[in-house]
Order: sequence, then C-alpha cells, then structure tokens
Amino acid sequence: MPYSLMILPGDGIGPEAMSEVKKVISWLQENADIEFDIQEDLVGGAAIDAYGVPFSDETLEKCKKADAVLLGAVGGPKWDNVDYNIRPEAGLLRIRKELDLFANLRPAIVFDALIEASTLKEEVVRGLDILIVRELTGGVYFGEPRGIEDLGNGQRRGVNTQVYTTSEIERVGRIAFDLAKKRSNRVCSCEKANVMESGKLWREDMSALHAAEFSDVELSHMYADNCAMQLLRNPSQFDVIVTDNLFGDILSDEAAMLTGSLGMLPSASLGMSGTGICNALYEPVHGSAPDIAGQGKANPLASILSFSMALRYSFNRGDLADHLEQAVQNVLNSGIRTADIMADGCKQVSTSEMGDILVERLSAQPLQSQSAA
Ligand code: IPM
Ligand code: MG
Repeated sequence: MPYSLMILPGDGIGPEAMSEVKKVISWLQENADIEFDIQEDLVGGAAIDAYGVPFSDETLEKCKKADAVLLGAVGGPKWDNVDYNIRPEAGLLRIRKELDLFANLRPAIVFDALIEASTLKEEVVRGLDILIVRELTGGVYFGEPRGIEDLGNGQRRGVNTQVYTTSEIERVGRIAFDLAKKRSNRVCSCEKANVMESGKLWREDMSALHAAEFSDVELSHMYADNCAMQLLRNPSQFDVIVTDNLFGDILSDEAAMLTGSLGMLPSASLGMSGTGICNALYEPVHGSAPDIAGQGKANPLASILSFSMALRYSFNRGDLADHLEQAVQNVLNSGIRTADIMADGCKQVSTSEMGDILVERLSAQPLQSQSAA
C-alpha cells in the first residue's frame, strides 16, 4: 500500500523548497522499497487568494485522510492587511487544532560542517543536539476568553487566556519522555510555576506522570526565563525540553538560532485522531522569507529534513531517514552551500542545484533499505 502524502507548499520560499523535497521523494520511489500517493493543495496566502480562506474545509478533509502532511511555509506582506481571522497564520493554527497536532518536535542540531554559522563560541555549541517538545494545541494560543473589547472611555482591553488541563499536560509529557528514552534519557520541563497557576499545575502533573510511568527517565524542572538564559550559557546541558505553546514558540526560536542555520531546521507536529490513527505534519522551522522568494536562494534542506522526520515518525523508516540525513551531511561536508549558510572556501549553489546534488549523493551511498514490518 502506498503511503498517502498531502503536500501544502504554501507561500514565499515554501513552493521552491518543496520542489526539492519532491526530487527526494521521486528518488525514493525509484530506488527504495517505498511508495507514495501524493496530493497537493493550497494553504496560507495562496489559499486566501484562491479560496478566500487560509485553510479550507476541503483541504482539511484531505489532510485528515493523509498519512502525513508536508507543509512549506505561510504568509507574506501581500496578506498583511487581510482580516485577522483569515490571516495566513490563522490557517496554520487551524491545521494544528483540527488535526489535534498537540506535540511539536523541534530539534536544534549543530552540524559540524556548519559550526561557524553559530554566533556562539564553537566550544559552547559543538555537537549540540537538543529536542524541544512544544505543546501546540493549547495554552494562550487557544484559551478562552480572548479578544479585544472596547471599554467605552477611549480605552480598550486585550485578553488572552493561558489554560491547561491535566490530560493536555500528560499527553505531551508522554511524548517527551518516550523520545528522551531514545536519546540521552533526560527531560527538562519548563514553565513559570513561580508566577502562573497553569505553570504550577504543569510542574505537578509532569512530576506525577514521571513518578507513575517514567521514573527511569531523568526529569528536571526549570522556569522558562532561566531556560532562555541557560540555552545561551550552556546549551549542552539539555537533551529534551518539554514546554507549553507560548514558551515553546520562544525557546524553539532561541534554540534554532544557537545553530546559526535556521535554514537547516526541520519540525514535526504529531497528534492522535479519534480513530487512533496518528495525524502528522512536517514543516521547516523557517518561515516563508518573502524577501528572497523566487530567486533560487532558499535553502531546501530544512524541508528535506522535515520529510526525513516523516520517514522516521510516520512511516517507521528510520533506515531511509538515516540514508537521507547521511546524504545531507555529505553535501555539507563537501562544502556545498546555499546563500544562507555560505562560508569562505565553500561553493554556493541555488535551491534547485542543492536538491540535484543531494539526489546525486543519495545514489552514491549504498542503500541498506529494509522494508518496514
Ligand atoms: C511558529 C510560528 C507560529 C507560532 C506563527 C506563524 C503563528 O512562530 O510555528 O513558531 O507562533 O506558532
Ligand atoms: Mg515561532
């Protein structure tokens, strides 16, 4: 049975990066024992232009049926003034909520070949491999009440609500602990239990979950502001960081920048549907970068590495993910670079050249492919 893939290239550099992912998919279909049934649709600004909404009901239905969704990026200045409820970002939030993608995995990995790209000292970031697990469908992003009200005296009042329930905390906690077991077995849970009740609950529920199900994993707690500081001071102390939606948004940007190469970072958003089937969406951490769109300058590796996460988490093909990630390492080690990660002595290539060279490397390496059970 082929796996069904829903591709949503989106806006800005999303489509050009996704074209390179498609080259990788074609290579796999021809050379490995895996098959995909691919559909494509619009999201974000492109969908606003075509359908009047950033994420349509029809697109949602197709995404629900797919084994995995690959997303490019959304947004751009063209849609800065559309109604707040149908802005491109609202489409992204709707996908997350409707597919119940509650666990957002954002790795921050420093590739040896790119260590100079970090603004931090080499000895601080060498070998860095952190995984941020961000809660993605709750907290202040979705809490009610929310809105802007007119107080009638020339004043307005803006309200958002930070809210978490035990089950929301536990389900993202389970994902973090499970992933830590396959890594260095350490979870750091971040909140503001010193100021917020929802943070106090977060800490208590994480501790209870740890005691009940994961006492073999090392758990520590940290206030989110301290975590922001520790990420700069000594990032290697972290293995898995689990945190809420808003702190995860901020800390994952910070962790991404430790690597100096935002154009390299993938992400996965995972959830369970009512039938127990795992929904999953894979997207690069970088945005739509409208300033460089259409110029062949975009780095397609974050989108390609996001597809690699799909191979690993949705299709249980760690062997093919390893093969792909090895090819990415090889390309970097041989000094091939897109503009964003260009360095002295390296060769600068365009978006599509990067994809072509990567595919050549995929063929050059022996493929030790084993069928998923
Ligand atoms: C992210 C982005 C989004 C978020 C925006 C675009 C809505 O910053 O995925 O981190 O805040 O979650
Ligand atoms: Mg963000």
